[in-house]
Amino acid sequence: MSEFSKEEIIDILSDDSRNEWLFSLADKTRKEYVGDEIHLRGLIEFSNICRCQCKYCGLQSINKSIDRYRISPDDIVLYAKKAVDMGYKTVVLQSGEDEYYSKDIMSDIIKRIKSFDVAVTLSIGERSYEDYEAFKIAGADRYLLRIETTDKELYKQMHPNMSFENRIRCLKDLKVLGYEVGTGCLVGLPNQTIESLADDILFFKEIDADMVGIGPFIAHPETPLKDASNGSFILALKVMALTRILLKNINIPATTAMETLNPNGRIIALQSGANVVMPNVTTTEYRAKYEIYPNKICINEDPSQCRGCIEGKIKSIGRTISKEKGFRKH
Ligand code: 5AD
Ligand code: FES
Repeated sequence: MSEFSKEEIIDILSDDSRNEWLFSLADKTRKEYVGDEIHLRGLIEFSNICRCQCKYCGLQSINKSIDRYRISPDDIVLYAKKAVDMGYKTVVLQSGEDEYYSKDIMSDIIKRIKSFDVAVTLSIGERSYEDYEAFKIAGADRYLLRIETTDKELYKQMHPNMSFENRIRCLKDLKVLGYEVGTGCLVGLPNQTIESLADDILFFKEIDADMVGIGPFIAHPETPLKDASNGSFILALKVMALTRILLKNINIPATTAMETLNPNGRIIALQSGANVVMPNVTTTEYRAKYEIYPNKICINEDPSQCRGCIEGKIKSIGRTISKEKGFRKH
């Protein structure tokens, strides 16, 4: 039942009459393979400086209207320490593609954070094999790099001066180096087809992704896609649910973008296949500035408010918070 063909995936994505069946099958699969525990990952958005021009992203280098920041290595380590003290078992270091954080600077940050006995996930974009290797040696456990779309033509349209082949190279290098690899896609990009979303799901399976993050596209007013319509929350949820059903034991976050489009988005996602949440652990001075898309949640909350908020929501649906680092269950 869970080995859907591409045609079946396309049928399910195109037809909303079986959504309840789909979401409950994904929830059942989640329970069977990864249980009721939810893994919380403390997210540190440490720099919004980016050399890329991804058409959909508010951090793209041509956006002159955002206030750019870089958190110093010492402060990144402090935020990580605070996250660990609050009970987080993983910290995620995310930034734009900011070359200031060289191989050596990043490696040093990772080493210092690893001394707190915590899992470290990086989400800092495309780098060389040598950089990825150095970060792994420094102690990094996981890496997030969404493929964004497997439609090569659309990939090219969305990512000027980037190459699909290099992105695949990065994902392969990360696997070879022994990282747990996270990837994922945007749902609802202009000109994206249902067929390509089916290909995205099959791609996650083919590369044996350990984590998959899926979120709806949200149009940012300071980007070339400002007049495009937002992606659909339900379609993103369906892509996520199918990913759970096909990949079974992986980690799947209830993404912040889902909650931006639906006030109960993360809880709905946790009941439709997701088992991870990534609350922000930086202070309010940076949150609004990390504006990948508009109307991001938690802009005015501090780390302890987010922790309390999400714990309450998780308990309200009868789930528990894991005390483990939350690696993929094999
Ligand atoms: N809407 C939704 N998600 C976005 N991302 C970037 N820009 C947007 C947007 N406008 C996602 C990308 C990236 C992740 C960090 O944020 O998928 O990989
Ligand atoms: Fe930040 Fe709810 S998780 S306020």
